[in-house]
Formats: sequence, structure tokens, C-alpha cells
Amino acid sequence: MSPETLVPDTSTPATDTSNFGPDRFDTYVMKTYGRFPLTLERGEGCRVWDNSGQEYLDFVAGIATCTLGHAHPALVEAVTQQIQKLHHVSNLYYIPEQGQLAEWLVKHSCADRAFFCNSGAEANEAAIKLARKYANTVLEVEQPVILTAKASFHGRTLATVTATGQPKYQKGFSPLVPGFEYVPYNDIAALENAIGDIDEGNRRVCAIMLEALQGEGGVRPGDLDYFLRVRKICDEIGILLILDEVQVGVGRTGKLWGYENLGIEPDIFTSAKGLAGGIPIGAMLCKDSCNVFEPGNHASTFGGNPFACASALAVLDTLETEDILTNVIARGEQLRKNLRAIANQYTNLFIDVRGWGLINGMEINAESEFTSIDIVKAAMAEGLLMVPAGPKVLRFVPPLIVSADEVEAASQKLGDAIAKLVNSI
Ligand SMILES: Cc1ncc(COP(=O)(O)O)c(C=O)c1O
Repeated sequence: MSPETLVPDTSTPATDTSNFGPDRFDTYVMKTYGRFPLTLERGEGCRVWDNSGQEYLDFVAGIATCTLGHAHPALVEAVTQQIQKLHHVSNLYYIPEQGQLAEWLVKHSCADRAFFCNSGAEANEAAIKLARKYANTVLEVEQPVILTAKASFHGRTLATVTATGQPKYQKGFSPLVPGFEYVPYNDIAALENAIGDIDEGNRRVCAIMLEALQGEGGVRPGDLDYFLRVRKICDEIGILLILDEVQVGVGRTGKLWGYENLGIEPDIFTSAKGLAGGIPIGAMLCKDSCNVFEPGNHASTFGGNPFACASALAVLDTLETEDILTNVIARGEQLRKNLRAIANQYTNLFIDVRGWGLINGMEINAESEFTSIDIVKAAMAEGLLMVPAGPKVLRFVPPLIVSADEVEAASQKLGDAIAKLVNSI
């Protein structure tokens, strides 16, 4: 950087972002993300507009985060009221909004207690710490192992990136955190073998940590039989089942929690993304039977502050009062039907359409020259935003309030984008 660019720009106020194009952005922000050349400026419902006024249908929703879409009146009112009253106080004191959110979550799940933080990774960190303390104190195991699944995703902190069963996210960050091993997802024999092998040494499996549906790993739903068996194994040998509900929780699958699709209850589960509809929050919930945390064991400055909790309460209240889960189921079926029709038109290009509720994936043939990024870019040119789940899966995670007309419009745009892409070769 030349010396003159180090001189602060005082000509515009710090709050003026109107001239912040990609070049200026990339001068100052660390390049940890591969970004599309798109600057979004405002949104309403399932639609967003870029800084040139171009409109898009948003089937990304901040990656399964903007539960109620953009600028939903219930969320706008809740954040406005709360910020005018009290936005942050320390956990040195009682916070009624935090208590009320914990009570809502407990009354609407299998858990007995909640701990609040700010993101999915932090929620999973809390779950990992709780499982380790349970291993150390209840199971009396000093070298506990947590089994996670290959192709899973649990976050980017050191412990959660280690828990993540994808070497591409771990490369370059050694030494990783000890105490994690990986098994293929939905493969019960592999899981049983791994437990047997690990328990032979001086280490012992203390927990199994899984997603009910693998999101980042390619939108792969869990098998019912597999999860029933996993639950049984955990009960038989007295270890914990942790479910990462960060992407699939809060109604995304058509049920409030992903585990409800699998007929089981976890001992611990985590939530984040959609919980406050885009306001940062994370939560780790557990049954009393494994709640070994004591004062001083875990904490977060921002965790569970009045602002984040009031936002989450507005989202959850709206989900209930507007019966949004019914919409999730109907719109999910409609979307999968449309995606299957497109896949049937291009049998060389697509090999599968799958998902639950409003988390759906379309898998591209490994032999095809097109990647998910190619199709995401082509759809963007048609005014539809989507997100890849790996190099060969398209992911569709619109706001849960998406309408039937919007699902039709998105399907049309995707069909047009694919037709243009295929005809371009
Ligand atoms: C299943 C799952 N767990 C954890 C995370 C990490 O969440 P965050 O980015 O909020 O830390 C994600 C993010 O995509 C996720 O999908």
C-alpha cells in the first residue's frame, strides 16, 4: 500500500457506505471469502436489490439464516423496541429476554436448559466442552473421543473445524485439536467398528456428534434407521448424542427441529443461523441428565443479550402464530417437484434432487463439465440467488415465508439459466 493510501479518508463520514465498491472493499477486508461480484443494498420478504437497482429472488437467505426474509415487520418492530429500551447488559445480571427465550426453547424441544452465544461454531464449541466435561467427570475418561461424520460441517473455530469431517477446511491449521475421529455418515457398521477400535485403547468414545441432515456437505438427509440405531448405541454404552441443528433447526425442515424427522431425541443440540432470523445468536441446549456445567465453566460477553434474545423471540413467535411450518412443508414439496421436472429435462446434468422442507439440494453429475458455481452464476444473471453445497450440489434455502408464486418464479429462472448455460456449449 502506498503511503498516501494510509492517510484516512475524512472527506466522507464513516457511516457513508455509498461509494464502497469491491476494489475499495478488497483493499481493507481480509480475503477469507470467495465473493460473487454483487453488492446487495436492501431487501423485502424474499426479494433483494443490488446497488444498481437489479432485483433478485433470494433463495440463499444469508445461508439458511433469514427465517422471515428481509425487513419482516415483526422483526423490525422487535429490534426497534428493544434497542430503544436496553440492547446489551452483561451476564453478571439477570436478563428476562434470555430467560424467556430459554423457556420457549425448552418448552418446544426435548431439552431442559439453554446456554446462549453468538454463532453456530460457538454453540458447537459449548457442546464439545460440555461433552468433554461429562466424559471427565461422569464417565471418568481422561482421553475422550468425539465421533463425527465425514462430510460434516460444524464451524471454523479450531475445535469445530477439527470436528468438521472435511480435510479441505483443516488443511494448513495443524496441530488440530485432539479427540475427534470421523466415520462415514449413515453407515452404522462403520460407527460400531470405530467405537470398538477406539474403546480398546486407553481412549473412549464419549459422544457422537452429527447433523440430522448434512447441509454444507451436500444436503444429505440422515437415514431414519441409522439415527434410531445411533440413539440406541448411545443409550446402551452411556455416551452422549449431540446434534448440530445450526442449519436445519428453527423450522427449516418443516419441523421445528431436524431431529423430529428422525424419531429420536439428542442429549445435546445446537442452534444458530435462523434462530433470530439474521441477528447473531447461538444456543446450546441439553437435557438435565448431562448438564454438568457449573458457574465459571463457560461464558460469552454478548451471549444471550436482550437485543439478540428479543429478536429470536419475535422470530419464534411469528413462526408459531403465522403457522409458517405448514408453509415450509407445502413450499418444499412444490420446489422439489419443480426441481425434479428440471432434472428430468437434463438427465445428463442432474443425478438427484433431495431435501426436507425448505432445505433442498440438486446434485450435478460428477462427469458433467458444469459445477455448482457455474449454475449459481447463471441463475444470478436471471435474477435468482442460490448457494452451492460443495462443487456438485446446488442448495436452495429460501426464507421460510416464501410464497407459491415465488417458488414458481425461482423455478422458471433456474430453468432459463440452465437452458442458456447448456446451449452456450
Ligand atoms: C451445520 C452447521 N454447523 C455449524 C455451522 C457454523 O456456524 P457459524 O458460521 O454461525 O459459526 C454451520 C454454518 O454453516 C453449519 O451449517
